[in-house]
Amino acid sequence: MEIKSVILAAGKGTRMKSETPKVLHKIFDKTLLGYVLDSVKFASEAFVIVGHKAEEVTEYVNENYAFAKTVLQTPQLGTGHAVSMVCPALENFEGLVVILCGDTPLVREETMKNFVAEHIKSGADLTVMSTIFDNPTNYGRIIRSGNGALEKIVEEKDADAGQKAVKEVNAGIYCLNWAKIKPAFSQLTSSNAQGEYYLTDIIEWANRQGLSVQASVLEDSDEIYGINSRENLAIATRLMNQRKLHELMVSGVTIVDPASTWISQDTEIGADTVVYPSTYIEGSNNKIGKRCKIGPFAHLRGDVEVADDVKIGNFVEVKKSKIGAHTNACHLSYIGDSELGSNINIGAGTITANFNPLTRVKSKTVLKDNVKIGSNTVLVAPVTVEEGANVGAGSVITKNVPARALALTRGVLKVIEGWVKG
Ligand code: UD1
Ligand code: CA
Repeated sequence: MEIKSVILAAGKGTRMKSETPKVLHKIFDKTLLGYVLDSVKFASEAFVIVGHKAEEVTEYVNENYAFAKTVLQTPQLGTGHAVSMVCPALENFEGLVVILCGDTPLVREETMKNFVAEHIKSGADLTVMSTIFDNPTNYGRIIRSGNGALEKIVEEKDADAGQKAVKEVNAGIYCLNWAKIKPAFSQLTSSNAQGEYYLTDIIEWANRQGLSVQASVLEDSDEIYGINSRENLAIATRLMNQRKLHELMVSGVTIVDPASTWISQDTEIGADTVVYPSTYIEGSNNKIGKRCKIGPFAHLRGDVEVADDVKIGNFVEVKKSKIGAHTNACHLSYIGDSELGSNINIGAGTITANFNPLTRVKSKTVLKDNVKIGSNTVLVAPVTVEEGANVGAGSVITKNVPARALALTRGVLKVIEGWVKG
């Protein structure tokens, strides 16, 4: 069955106190909205409902997600009103519509796939994801009848004391048989405490039509953790990091100190690699091989491909680079826009000068296999050091170095004897 997705992202996010729209805030290098879109990659099309700072969000979506487009909602009259904005585009759509919020970046693609599979298997017309919170304050409460059937969702502000005591809450994720539920969107009213058109009212509507509705309980409630403040953003970042470190450790990577190690989701690390404390690996497309030693105090910034048995030591920053097997960069270096072969030694304090601030052009440094770079070398890109060549310590390399040559730009050492009197 064809699946389309609707992502609600028109709200202002007042509590972020930011010029940036809430859904474009980032965890590691990826936006909150990016994580949510990635969780529904299996959909044939995604509609992102935008309102506040719509242009910025639209630009982001258009640049990064071919399967998604934005739909404008002005003014923002509530979550039900938001979803109704896609009715014209989905007028003749017969498949499933999966709805999520743009500010819950921890939801996993696997969870979304399972949720949709469960919806299909059950034969329901509408499935709501719920979860159990010890402190359910501010969430919509799941109200079930005596036999456990889903009756309705009541928002905090509309709930009586009995309803407020319910700990099962609406996760804000829904799967709808679109053709059956679509008529609800022209019939929602705003007669509630907030004067908004509530998406949650589609449940009572469906019940009144005799359609089949159900709530599916999500066990790991962290996955629907929503971002409303900078505090929430920090907590979500930590949760995402913990999840990643756990996965890596299960797959055979040693993380010496999980409390001080940060690794982005889109980072693969081979077994028996050891990541030492205070290492920060951000960005996407990082692939680190087996038996490597990373850190302490290493900073990998994305598009970093490291083969097996590599050492990246303290205060070494690597960006957009490939590093071959058995190559070492153990201390105080910057390696950017580079291609390093295997069995290379990068001396302490080596810098690839990849950026020309006058032309604003970034260029590449290529070091072939078995190259040895002396300490405190600057490799001014574009530059290539051919196979087996050596560079003497303290050199500034502005030209290509032939294979097996020695390149050296060091001034002649002067020793003045008797300089210190007395
Ligand atoms: C909503 C649910 C609540 C659920 C909670 C889960 C309703 C009425 N309530 O409450 O049951 O427990 O999510 O997080 O749906 N948005 C728009 N346009 C609007 C209004 C909101 O796009 O007109 C977007 C917001 O940007 C946000 C999302 O919808 O991403 C949720 O809106 P919000 O007002 O935060 O709903 P909650 O009060 O959290
Ligand atoms: Ca609200």
